[in-house]
Amino acid sequence: MTDLVRNERRGAIALLTLDRPKALNALSSAMLEALSSAIAEVAGDPSVRALVLTGEGRAFAAGADIEEMSAMTALQAEAFSRLGHDSFAALEALSVPTIAAVNGFALGGGCEMALACDFIYASAKATFGQPEVGLGLIPGFGGTSRLARRVGVAWAKELVLTGSNIKADEALRIGLANRLFEPEALLEGALAAGQTIAEKGPVAVSVAKRVMQEGQDADVRTAHALEQNAFGLVFATDDRVEGTGAFVAKRDPEFKGQ
Ligand code: CAA
Repeated sequence: MTDLVRNERRGAIALLTLDRPKALNALSSAMLEALSSAIAEVAGDPSVRALVLTGEGRAFAAGADIEEMSAMTALQAEAFSRLGHDSFAALEALSVPTIAAVNGFALGGGCEMALACDFIYASAKATFGQPEVGLGLIPGFGGTSRLARRVGVAWAKELVLTGSNIKADEALRIGLANRLFEPEALLEGALAAGQTIAEKGPVAVSVAKRVMQEGQDADVRTAHALEQNAFGLVFATDDRVEGTGAFVAKRDPEFKGQ
């Protein structure tokens, strides 16, 4: 049996690929567990500077596994929801930036998985949506909260309450996807963004990510205080000495991540 999630390195970038194309990378319990393990491996690898998450075949992920869910009790469904939440929370909490390279269907749990990434690049052929109400369900892996934070509550409500899917150009227009690519250029585009990130000061990148993440859940005064503290903190790093010194000396910086 092949791994449900392939975990490769492209230089300093971790490339995770959901690999269950015959079921459109449906998120079964086994798939979510495989994803969590891959994320834990990435979290423990100090050489990784960015992560790209994508899917093999026609889908990024066509949602939680409907066949598996069809036999669940309410208690099993709650545990399944928790499994998805834990996996996506670990993805969101990675100290390195994460890019969802949405190659095709990103529906239900698949859209929620993309939302747990820092930003989304999409194939011009991608489809997004939260179709759960059509199954008599609601989003269960973070869609009711993360979607509204990403695109605003009005669009989130329209998507969740109608269950209608949207094409890539609409996803771009509402700010769900940052950029669109021709299908064959998507992975290259996402890896290039990862490479751009990898060349910056690693501590600064991860501190900026954390401050933005925590700041968005805090009131604005707390968010400003978090930023001030973190701004001071990065001045204690060698990378800050190197980055500002290289600018003054008119040379390229060589960051060490310290
Ligand atoms: N779960 C399990 N299997 C799935 C699946 C899913 N979410 N999505 C697709 N598949 C399987 C299909 O059953 C089919 O398997 P078989 O070949 O064995 O029959 C295979 O993937 C290919 O799918 P289709 O034949 O349906 O392909 P299509 O091109 O005709 O349609 C599609 C593509 C529109 C994405 C359609 O597959 C579809 O609507 N999928 C379900 C989308 C959905 O409702 N997602 C939300 C799930 S609920 C959820 O995610 C809850 C949550 O938040 C936790």
